[in-house]
Amino acid sequence: MNRETDLRSRRKDDHVRHALDQDSIVTDSDFNHVHFVHQSIPSFNLDEVDLSTRIGPLKLTQPLYINAMTGGSEWTRTINGKLAEVAGATGIPMAVGSMHAALKHPELADSFTIVRNHNPNGLIFANVGADVSLEGAKRAIELIGADALQIHINAPQELIMPEGDRNFSTWRGNIKNIVQHVSIPVIVKEVGFGMSRETLQILKDIGVQHADVSGRGGTNFASIENARRENKDMDYLKNWGLSTAISLLEAESFVDDMSILASGGVKTPLDAMKCLALGAKAVGMSRTMLEQVEYHGIEAAIEYISQFHHQMRKISVMINARNIEEINRRSIVFSPEILSWQKQRSLHS
Ligand SMILES: Cc1cc2nc3c(=O)[nH]c(=O)nc-3n(C[C@H](O)[C@H](O)[C@H](O)COP(=O)(O)O)c2cc1C
Repeated sequence: MNRETDLRSRRKDDHVRHALDQDSIVTDSDFNHVHFVHQSIPSFNLDEVDLSTRIGPLKLTQPLYINAMTGGSEWTRTINGKLAEVAGATGIPMAVGSMHAALKHPELADSFTIVRNHNPNGLIFANVGADVSLEGAKRAIELIGADALQIHINAPQELIMPEGDRNFSTWRGNIKNIVQHVSIPVIVKEVGFGMSRETLQILKDIGVQHADVSGRGGTNFASIENARRENKDMDYLKNWGLSTAISLLEAESFVDDMSILASGGVKTPLDAMKCLALGAKAVGMSRTMLEQVEYHGIEAAIEYISQFHHQMRKISVMINARNIEEINRRSIVFSPEILSWQKQRSLHS
């Protein structure tokens, strides 16, 4: 392994290690400031609830997916294999982590292709950064036979990362070019800093039809990258970004034209249901899934997802909404902090 390959692999392992170390209980999640209105007399039975959904042409039997994390090192090859088995057994889509490692160093490719090998018929999302070339994006898709392509946008992470990128002016044109020239759905995603209305407008203007707002509240890359800095001197940015709940409010006027996906700090079936009520078509989880496979194992992770989905269906009954369309339109009540953001930003529900 040469020096650069080694650096990339070590960085990915660092990210996994730091992510697992981050406190899994966020006490002040913005999801706690979003409330459902309980309905006492449901009009249907639990077994009539249907939470199937779509991301463009892709049909999902459940509105959950394993979001982008790993690949690019020996350790994360093993993790990808486990996640792929869980995704295959539960029938939910899975995204791999950034594939730049494999594009630059073909000897690392099998840490991504293992996902297709372990889950030959599942929905798998490739993942690249916004600086990738069109040719690189196509190679990433081909390598794992991807059903969708995620393009991550992660400017704060790059800026806090000691060895991160400093050039962003090509991102917009590059994303536009990729969207125009690949034949599978392109999902532009954040990495835990959330998306504003302005960001979503740019994405819509350049032809992006699917966006994962991936907001603040879960895995925190400002803290992870700060921990990798020699002086740990950018800790003050640890609350940077928009929470997932706020991001979904910012996304409200786009839900008819784009599929809005939610991730970032989703820890319970209730959090996931709130994302759907705020307009999301599906909900992604990263760290929670990592914790499941690394600390509890494949069988436990499969059972976790099955229970998670079952409990979402139970909550559907409690709000008297039998499918995603009805949940999307379910009335919710906000705490003053969220209401204030909504007013100041002129976002109306
Ligand atoms: C260990 C780890 C590695 C990640 N690597 C990537 C990546 O390579 N590409 C990407 O788009 N997002 C990456 N993410 C971000 C997640 O996809 C997601 O947006 C973020 O973690 C928020 O979700 P969570 O709170 O459920 O973890 C990574 C997350 C974790 C925990």
